[in-house]
Amino acid sequence: MEVIINPSAQAAANLAARKIAGVVRAKPSAVLGLATGGSPVPVYRELIRLHQEEGLDFSRVTTFNLDEYIGLRPSHPASYHHFMWECLFRHINVCSERVHIPDGLAHDIPASCNAYETAIRDAGGIDLQLLGIGTDGHIAFNEPASSLASRTRIKTLSERTRRDNASFFAEGEEVPHHVITMGVGTIMEAREVVLLGFGAAKADAMLAAIEGPVTQMVPASVLQFHERACFLLDDASAAKLQRADYYRHVFANKPGWQRV
Ligand code: PGA
Repeated sequence: MEVIINPSAQAAANLAARKIAGVVRAKPSAVLGLATGGSPVPVYRELIRLHQEEGLDFSRVTTFNLDEYIGLRPSHPASYHHFMWECLFRHINVCSERVHIPDGLAHDIPASCNAYETAIRDAGGIDLQLLGIGTDGHIAFNEPASSLASRTRIKTLSERTRRDNASFFAEGEEVPHHVITMGVGTIMEAREVVLLGFGAAKADAMLAAIEGPVTQMVPASVLQFHERACFLLDDASAAKLQRADYYRHVFANKPGWQRV
C-alpha cells in the first residue's frame, strides 16, 4: 500500500489527476471508477485542464460511478448524476453512452444493481478506481459493518453520513436515507485504487484505515489487502499516523522509474 502525504489537497489532487491521465494515455479505452463528494472536485478540475490544454482524450473511456441516492431525479442538484455532469463530464469529450451511474429511480433496484455489476464485468473491469473516505472510514456508501465481500446493492446511510453530506443539499432539505452503492468486493476488484482524504476531519479515519486492523467496522481498511492501493493525504489528514515520517521518506526517495 502506498501512502503519500502531500503539502496540500491541491497537490494531492494533481497527483491523482496525473495517475488517471497516465492510465488513459496508456489505454485510451480505459475503464475509470469515479467518485463524488468534496475531495474529487480538484481532481476533476485538473482533468478538465489536461483535456482542454493538453488534449487528454476521453472519447473511448468508460466510466462507472460508485453510488447514487435513491429517489433523487438525475437533475436534482444534490444527485450524483448532476454532480458528475457539472463537475466533469460536460467539460470533457466523454461519450455519454459510456458513462454509468447507478439509477436511483430504478423500478427494480436489486435487478439494476445486478445489471451494474454485469456492465462493469462486460466493460472488462475497472482499471483505476477513485475513492473518497468518510469520517467513519466508509468507502463509496459502504458504511461500517458492510460486508467486505459486498457487491452493488441498497444501503441505509448512517445519521453521521447524512449529516456530513447535508451541505450538498438545500437548507432544510431532507438527505435521503437510502442509496445504491458499489460493494466493497466490487471496489476490491479494480486493478488500481486511489483514495483521497483531506483535512483534520479525516485524520481518525485515515489512521484506522492505514494503520489499524482490517475490519468491516472501517471499510477502507480492507484496501490493506489490495495489491495496488494508493492513499493520498494532506498534512492535516496525516496528522495522527504513527509512521508519517517513514511514508514521507519513502516518497522523497522513490527511484525515478517509480514516479508518476
Ligand atoms: P468528501 O467525502 O470527499 O466529501 O470528504 C467522502 C466520503 O464521504 O466518502
